[in-house]
Amino acid sequence: MPEATLGGSAAAIWASEGAEPGTDGALTRAGGVRGEADIALGSEELAKIGLRFEVDGKIATITLDRPEKRNAQTFATWSGLARIGRTLPEQVRVVVVRGEGPSFSAGIDLRMFTPEGVPGQGSFASAAVLDGDTFGERITEAQEGFLWLRRPDIVSIAVVQGHAIGAGFQLALSCDLRILADDAKFCMKEPALGLVPDLTGTKPLVDLVGVARAVEICLTARVVDAGEALRIGLAEQVVPREELEAATRRLASALLTTDRDAAAATKRLLQGAVGRTLAEQCAAERAEQAVRIRALFGGNAAGAQEPSQV
Ligand code: ACO
Repeated sequence: MPEATLGGSAAAIWASEGAEPGTDGALTRAGGVRGEADIALGSEELAKIGLRFEVDGKIATITLDRPEKRNAQTFATWSGLARIGRTLPEQVRVVVVRGEGPSFSAGIDLRMFTPEGVPGQGSFASAAVLDGDTFGERITEAQEGFLWLRRPDIVSIAVVQGHAIGAGFQLALSCDLRILADDAKFCMKEPALGLVPDLTGTKPLVDLVGVARAVEICLTARVVDAGEALRIGLAEQVVPREELEAATRRLASALLTTDRDAAAATKRLLQGAVGRTLAEQCAAERAEQAVRIRALFGGNAAGAQEPSQV
Protein backbone atom coordinates (compact mmCIF):
# COMPACT_ATOMS: atom_id res chain seq x y z
CA MET A 1 0.00 0.00 0.00
CA PRO A 2 1.61 3.29 -1.02
CA GLU A 3 2.10 5.88 1.68
CA ALA A 4 0.07 9.02 1.26
CA THR A 5 -0.17 12.26 3.08
CA LEU A 6 -2.97 14.07 1.31
CA GLY A 7 -0.53 16.76 0.40
CA GLY A 8 2.89 16.81 1.99
CA SER A 9 4.20 16.82 5.51
CA ALA A 10 2.32 16.01 8.66
CA ALA A 11 2.08 19.74 9.22
CA ALA A 12 0.41 20.11 5.83
CA ILE A 13 -2.09 17.40 6.69
CA TRP A 14 -3.03 18.84 10.01
CA ALA A 15 -2.89 22.50 9.17
CA SER A 16 -4.32 22.71 5.66
CA GLU A 17 -7.05 20.10 5.87
CA GLY A 18 -8.86 21.72 8.76
CA ALA A 19 -12.24 23.34 8.22
CA GLU A 20 -12.19 25.30 11.44
CA PRO A 21 -11.68 22.23 13.63
CA GLY A 22 -13.88 22.14 16.67
CA THR A 23 -16.41 24.58 15.28
CA ASP A 24 -19.94 23.73 14.26
CA GLY A 25 -18.97 24.54 10.69
CA ALA A 26 -16.73 21.52 10.55
CA LEU A 27 -19.62 19.32 11.63
CA THR A 28 -22.04 20.33 8.90
CA ARG A 29 -22.46 18.73 5.53
CA ALA A 30 -20.56 20.18 2.57
CA GLY A 31 -21.94 23.54 1.57
CA GLY A 32 -21.35 27.26 1.82
CA VAL A 33 -17.85 28.47 0.96
CA ARG A 34 -15.91 25.48 -0.29
CA GLY A 35 -12.17 25.18 0.14
CA GLU A 36 -9.95 22.30 -0.93
CA ALA A 37 -10.74 20.49 2.31
CA ASP A 38 -14.45 20.51 1.40
CA ILE A 39 -14.00 18.65 -1.86
CA ALA A 40 -14.61 14.92 -1.65
CA LEU A 41 -11.59 12.68 -2.04
CA GLY A 42 -11.70 10.28 -4.97
CA SER A 43 -11.46 6.54 -4.51
CA GLU A 44 -7.81 6.51 -5.63
CA GLU A 45 -6.81 9.15 -3.09
CA LEU A 46 -8.72 7.28 -0.40
CA ALA A 47 -7.08 3.99 -1.40
CA LYS A 48 -3.66 5.56 -0.91
CA ILE A 49 -4.51 6.23 2.73
CA GLY A 50 -6.14 2.84 3.25
CA LEU A 51 -9.76 3.95 3.16
CA ARG A 52 -12.77 3.08 0.99
CA PHE A 53 -15.98 5.07 0.84
CA GLU A 54 -19.13 3.79 -0.82
CA VAL A 55 -22.63 5.21 -0.93
CA ASP A 56 -25.69 3.08 -1.62
CA GLY A 57 -28.77 5.29 -1.48
CA LYS A 58 -29.08 6.60 2.07
CA ILE A 59 -26.39 4.33 3.48
CA ALA A 60 -22.69 5.22 3.32
CA THR A 61 -19.98 2.73 4.18
CA ILE A 62 -16.48 3.69 5.28
CA THR A 63 -14.03 0.81 5.20
CA LEU A 64 -10.61 0.82 6.85
CA ASP A 65 -8.82 -0.99 4.08
CA ARG A 66 -5.31 -1.93 5.12
CA PRO A 67 -6.04 -5.49 6.27
CA GLU A 68 -2.41 -6.64 5.82
CA LYS A 69 -1.53 -4.16 8.61
CA ARG A 70 -4.72 -4.88 10.53
CA ASN A 71 -6.11 -1.49 9.50
CA ALA A 72 -3.56 0.43 11.54
CA GLN A 73 -4.42 4.13 11.51
CA THR A 74 -2.26 7.12 10.63
CA PHE A 75 -2.69 10.90 10.62
CA ALA A 76 -3.82 10.52 7.01
CA THR A 77 -6.57 8.09 8.08
CA TRP A 78 -8.00 10.67 10.48
CA SER A 79 -7.65 13.50 8.03
CA GLY A 80 -9.38 11.35 5.40
CA LEU A 81 -12.20 10.51 7.82
CA ALA A 82 -12.66 14.21 8.58
CA ARG A 83 -12.82 14.96 4.88
CA ILE A 84 -15.43 12.26 4.31
CA GLY A 85 -17.50 13.84 7.07
CA ARG A 86 -17.23 17.30 5.57
CA THR A 87 -18.25 16.08 2.14
CA LEU A 88 -20.86 13.51 3.09
CA PRO A 89 -23.54 13.41 0.38
CA GLU A 90 -26.75 15.09 1.45
CA GLN A 91 -28.92 12.01 1.08
CA VAL A 92 -26.91 9.88 3.54
CA ARG A 93 -28.69 8.99 6.79
CA VAL A 94 -26.73 5.97 8.00
CA VAL A 95 -22.92 5.70 8.07
CA VAL A 96 -21.41 2.26 8.53
CA VAL A 97 -17.78 2.11 9.70
CA ARG A 98 -16.08 -1.24 9.17
CA GLY A 99 -12.66 -2.79 8.76
CA GLU A 100 -11.48 -5.14 6.04
CA GLY A 101 -9.87 -8.43 7.05
CA PRO A 102 -9.49 -10.20 10.38
CA SER A 103 -9.45 -7.09 12.59
CA PHE A 104 -11.49 -3.90 12.76
CA SER A 105 -8.34 -1.92 13.58
CA ALA A 106 -5.07 -2.53 15.44
CA GLY A 107 -4.98 1.14 16.43
CA ILE A 108 -2.37 3.73 15.66
CA ASP A 109 0.37 2.74 13.26
CA LEU A 110 3.20 1.62 15.52
CA ARG A 111 5.74 3.28 13.23
CA MET A 112 4.71 6.49 14.99
CA PHE A 113 6.76 5.26 17.95
CA THR A 114 9.91 4.90 15.83
CA PRO A 115 12.35 7.74 15.06
CA GLU A 116 11.54 7.43 11.34
CA GLY A 117 7.78 7.61 11.88
CA VAL A 118 5.24 7.13 9.08
CA PRO A 119 6.72 8.39 5.79
CA GLY A 120 5.52 11.93 5.13
CA GLN A 121 3.55 12.05 8.37
CA GLY A 122 6.14 12.39 11.08
CA SER A 123 6.42 10.53 14.36
CA PHE A 124 5.69 11.10 18.02
CA ALA A 125 9.29 12.33 18.31
CA SER A 126 8.70 15.00 15.67
CA ALA A 127 5.37 15.93 17.29
CA ALA A 128 7.09 16.28 20.67
CA VAL A 129 9.06 19.34 19.53
CA LEU A 130 6.01 21.24 18.21
CA ASP A 131 4.80 24.28 20.12
CA GLY A 132 1.65 23.81 22.18
CA ASP A 133 -0.72 25.52 19.73
CA THR A 134 0.45 23.56 16.70
CA PHE A 135 0.33 20.32 18.64
CA GLY A 136 -3.19 21.08 19.82
CA GLU A 137 -4.32 21.96 16.30
CA ARG A 138 -3.09 18.63 14.99
CA ILE A 139 -4.89 16.64 17.63
CA THR A 140 -8.01 18.72 16.97
CA GLU A 141 -7.89 17.81 13.30
CA ALA A 142 -7.40 14.13 14.14
CA GLN A 143 -10.37 14.29 16.52
CA GLU A 144 -12.45 15.84 13.74
CA GLY A 145 -12.21 12.54 11.89
CA PHE A 146 -14.11 10.93 14.77
CA LEU A 147 -16.40 13.72 16.01
CA TRP A 148 -18.64 14.08 12.97
CA LEU A 149 -19.87 10.51 13.38
CA ARG A 150 -22.04 11.77 16.26
CA ARG A 151 -23.89 14.36 14.17
CA PRO A 152 -27.66 14.32 14.76
CA ASP A 153 -28.51 14.12 11.05
CA ILE A 154 -26.91 10.69 10.67
CA VAL A 155 -26.71 7.47 12.65
CA SER A 156 -23.30 5.83 12.62
CA ILE A 157 -22.74 2.11 13.16
CA ALA A 158 -19.36 0.56 13.96
CA VAL A 159 -19.14 -3.00 12.69
CA VAL A 160 -16.40 -4.71 14.67
CA GLN A 161 -14.74 -8.05 14.12
CA GLY A 162 -11.46 -9.20 15.66
CA HIS A 163 -9.33 -6.61 17.40
CA ALA A 164 -10.30 -2.98 18.00
CA ILE A 165 -7.28 -1.65 19.85
CA GLY A 166 -6.50 1.91 20.95
CA ALA A 167 -7.51 4.21 18.10
CA GLY A 168 -9.57 1.28 16.77
CA PHE A 169 -11.54 1.05 20.02
CA GLN A 170 -11.97 4.84 19.99
CA LEU A 171 -13.24 4.79 16.41
CA ALA A 172 -15.83 2.22 17.42
CA LEU A 173 -16.73 4.38 20.42
CA SER A 174 -17.18 7.42 18.19
CA CYS A 175 -20.11 5.74 16.44
CA ASP A 176 -23.66 5.85 17.77
CA LEU A 177 -24.09 2.08 17.68
CA ARG A 178 -21.82 -0.96 17.70
CA ILE A 179 -22.52 -4.36 16.16
CA LEU A 180 -19.90 -6.94 17.11
CA ALA A 181 -18.88 -10.28 15.72
CA ASP A 182 -18.51 -12.85 18.45
CA ASP A 183 -14.71 -12.70 18.06
CA ALA A 184 -14.52 -8.94 18.70
CA LYS A 185 -12.01 -7.73 21.28
CA PHE A 186 -11.74 -4.17 22.56
CA CYS A 187 -8.59 -2.89 24.25
CA MET A 188 -7.72 0.67 25.31
CA LYS A 189 -3.99 0.18 25.07
CA GLU A 190 -2.86 3.82 25.20
CA PRO A 191 -2.03 3.94 28.95
CA ALA A 192 0.11 0.83 28.56
CA LEU A 193 2.13 2.71 25.93
CA GLY A 194 2.46 5.88 28.03
CA LEU A 195 -0.30 7.76 26.20
CA VAL A 196 -3.84 8.83 26.96
CA PRO A 197 -6.80 8.05 24.69
CA ASP A 198 -7.25 11.36 22.86
CA LEU A 199 -9.30 10.45 19.81
CA THR A 200 -12.63 11.38 21.44
CA GLY A 201 -13.09 7.98 23.08
CA THR A 202 -13.04 8.80 26.80
CA LYS A 203 -16.43 10.50 26.98
CA PRO A 204 -18.48 7.89 25.13
CA LEU A 205 -16.71 5.18 27.11
CA VAL A 206 -17.67 6.82 30.40
CA ASP A 207 -21.20 7.56 29.12
CA LEU A 208 -21.64 3.90 28.20
CA VAL A 209 -20.03 2.04 31.10
CA GLY A 210 -19.57 4.61 33.90
CA VAL A 211 -16.39 6.12 35.33
CA ALA A 212 -15.40 3.15 37.51
CA ARG A 213 -15.63 0.54 34.73
CA ALA A 214 -13.92 2.94 32.29
CA VAL A 215 -11.05 3.46 34.74
CA GLU A 216 -10.69 -0.27 35.19
CA ILE A 217 -10.74 -0.97 31.42
CA CYS A 218 -8.30 1.81 30.50
CA LEU A 219 -5.87 1.54 33.40
CA THR A 220 -5.45 -2.19 33.02
CA ALA A 221 -5.46 -2.01 29.19
CA ARG A 222 -7.16 -5.39 29.32
CA VAL A 223 -9.21 -7.00 26.59
CA VAL A 224 -12.99 -6.70 26.70
CA ASP A 225 -14.45 -9.53 24.68
CA ALA A 226 -17.71 -9.43 22.74
CA GLY A 227 -19.79 -11.09 25.44
CA GLU A 228 -18.67 -8.65 28.11
CA ALA A 229 -19.03 -5.72 25.70
CA LEU A 230 -22.68 -6.62 25.19
CA ARG A 231 -23.25 -7.06 28.91
CA ILE A 232 -21.75 -3.71 29.94
CA GLY A 233 -23.32 -1.65 27.17
CA LEU A 234 -20.40 -1.34 24.75
CA ALA A 235 -22.37 -3.12 22.03
CA GLU A 236 -25.97 -3.21 20.89
CA GLN A 237 -25.66 -6.61 19.22
CA VAL A 238 -23.24 -9.53 19.04
CA VAL A 239 -23.66 -11.96 16.16
CA PRO A 240 -21.68 -14.86 14.72
CA ARG A 241 -18.91 -13.57 12.46
CA GLU A 242 -20.56 -14.87 9.29
CA GLU A 243 -23.77 -12.98 10.10
CA LEU A 244 -22.13 -9.61 10.69
CA GLU A 245 -22.85 -8.17 7.27
CA ALA A 246 -26.49 -9.26 7.21
CA ALA A 247 -27.07 -7.97 10.75
CA THR A 248 -25.58 -4.61 9.76
CA ARG A 249 -27.83 -4.40 6.69
CA ARG A 250 -30.88 -5.20 8.83
CA LEU A 251 -30.03 -2.52 11.39
CA ALA A 252 -29.27 0.09 8.72
CA SER A 253 -32.59 -0.65 6.99
CA ALA A 254 -34.48 -0.43 10.27
CA LEU A 255 -32.91 2.97 10.97
CA LEU A 256 -34.24 4.22 7.64
CA THR A 257 -37.85 3.42 8.53
CA THR A 258 -38.26 6.54 10.67
CA ASP A 259 -38.81 10.08 9.44
CA ARG A 260 -35.49 11.78 8.69
CA ASP A 261 -36.14 15.07 10.49
CA ALA A 262 -37.87 13.42 13.44
CA ALA A 263 -34.91 11.04 13.77
CA ALA A 264 -32.44 13.95 13.82
CA ALA A 265 -34.53 15.85 16.37
CA THR A 266 -34.88 12.76 18.55
CA LYS A 267 -31.14 12.12 18.42
CA ARG A 268 -30.51 15.73 19.45
CA LEU A 269 -32.86 15.24 22.41
CA LEU A 270 -31.26 11.97 23.46
CA GLN A 271 -27.72 13.30 23.13
CA GLY A 272 -28.57 16.33 25.25
CA ALA A 273 -30.52 14.44 27.91
CA VAL A 274 -27.62 13.53 30.20
CA GLY A 275 -26.47 17.14 30.55
CA ARG A 276 -29.95 18.53 31.29
CA THR A 277 -32.26 18.52 34.28
CA LEU A 278 -35.66 16.87 33.82
CA ALA A 279 -37.27 20.28 33.51
CA GLU A 280 -34.76 21.37 30.89
CA GLN A 281 -35.23 18.13 28.99
CA CYS A 282 -39.02 18.57 29.04
CA ALA A 283 -38.54 22.06 27.63
CA ALA A 284 -36.26 20.68 24.93
CA GLU A 285 -38.91 18.07 24.03
CA ARG A 286 -41.57 20.77 23.76
CA ALA A 287 -39.40 22.90 21.54
CA GLU A 288 -38.45 20.05 19.21
CA GLN A 289 -42.07 18.89 19.02
CA ALA A 290 -43.28 22.38 18.15
CA VAL A 291 -40.95 22.34 15.16
CA ARG A 292 -42.12 18.87 14.14
CA ILE A 293 -45.81 19.68 14.43
CA ARG A 294 -45.40 22.90 12.49
CA ALA A 295 -43.42 21.10 9.79
CA LEU A 296 -46.00 18.33 9.54
CA PHE A 297 -49.22 20.27 9.87
CA GLY A 298 -48.29 23.88 9.05
CA GLY A 299 -49.32 26.73 11.32
CA ASN A 300 -47.83 29.84 12.75
CA ALA A 301 -44.35 29.74 14.22
CA ALA A 302 -44.98 32.82 16.35
CA GLY A 303 -44.50 32.20 20.03
CA ALA A 304 -42.87 28.81 19.68
CA GLN A 305 -39.28 28.48 20.89
CA GLU A 306 -36.66 27.06 18.58
CA PRO A 307 -34.93 23.92 20.00
CA SER A 308 -31.56 25.67 19.90
CA GLN A 309 -32.84 28.32 22.32
CA VAL A 310 -33.70 25.82 25.01
N1 ACO B 1 0.74 -0.62 13.40
C1 ACO B 1 1.46 -1.03 12.35
N2 ACO B 1 1.46 -2.30 11.90
C2 ACO B 1 0.68 -3.18 12.57
C3 ACO B 1 -0.11 -2.80 13.68
C4 ACO B 1 -0.05 -1.45 14.09
N3 ACO B 1 -0.78 -0.99 15.12
N4 ACO B 1 -0.76 -3.89 14.14
C5 ACO B 1 -0.41 -4.90 13.33
N5 ACO B 1 0.48 -4.49 12.39
C6 ACO B 1 1.10 -5.26 11.32
C7 ACO B 1 2.11 -6.26 11.88
O1 ACO B 1 3.36 -5.63 12.08
C8 ACO B 1 2.13 -7.27 10.77
O2 ACO B 1 2.90 -6.77 9.71
P1 ACO B 1 3.90 -7.72 8.90
O3 ACO B 1 3.04 -8.78 8.29
O4 ACO B 1 4.54 -6.82 7.90
O5 ACO B 1 4.85 -8.28 9.91
C9 ACO B 1 0.68 -7.30 10.30
O6 ACO B 1 0.12 -6.07 10.72
C10 ACO B 1 -0.13 -8.43 10.91
O7 ACO B 1 0.02 -8.34 12.32
P2 ACO B 1 -0.01 -9.64 13.24
O8 ACO B 1 0.42 -9.22 14.62
O9 ACO B 1 0.75 -10.74 12.59
O10 ACO B 1 -1.57 -9.97 13.18
P3 ACO B 1 -2.43 -10.79 14.23
O11 ACO B 1 -3.78 -10.92 13.58
O12 ACO B 1 -1.73 -12.00 14.68
O13 ACO B 1 -2.55 -9.81 15.53
C11 ACO B 1 -3.04 -7.74 16.63
C12 ACO B 1 -3.33 -8.69 15.44
C13 ACO B 1 -3.46 -8.42 17.96
C14 ACO B 1 -3.87 -6.50 16.40
C15 ACO B 1 -1.53 -7.43 16.69
O14 ACO B 1 -1.08 -7.09 15.39
C16 ACO B 1 -1.19 -6.27 17.61
O15 ACO B 1 -1.15 -6.43 18.82
N6 ACO B 1 -0.93 -5.07 17.05
C17 ACO B 1 -0.48 -3.91 17.78
C18 ACO B 1 -1.65 -3.24 18.54
C19 ACO B 1 -1.23 -1.95 19.22
O16 ACO B 1 -0.45 -1.95 20.18
N7 ACO B 1 -1.75 -0.82 18.74
C20 ACO B 1 -1.51 0.50 19.28
C21 ACO B 1 -2.64 0.87 20.24
S1 ACO B 1 -2.48 2.46 20.98
C22 ACO B 1 -3.24 3.56 19.96
O17 ACO B 1 -3.94 3.20 19.03
C23 ACO B 1 -3.10 5.06 20.22
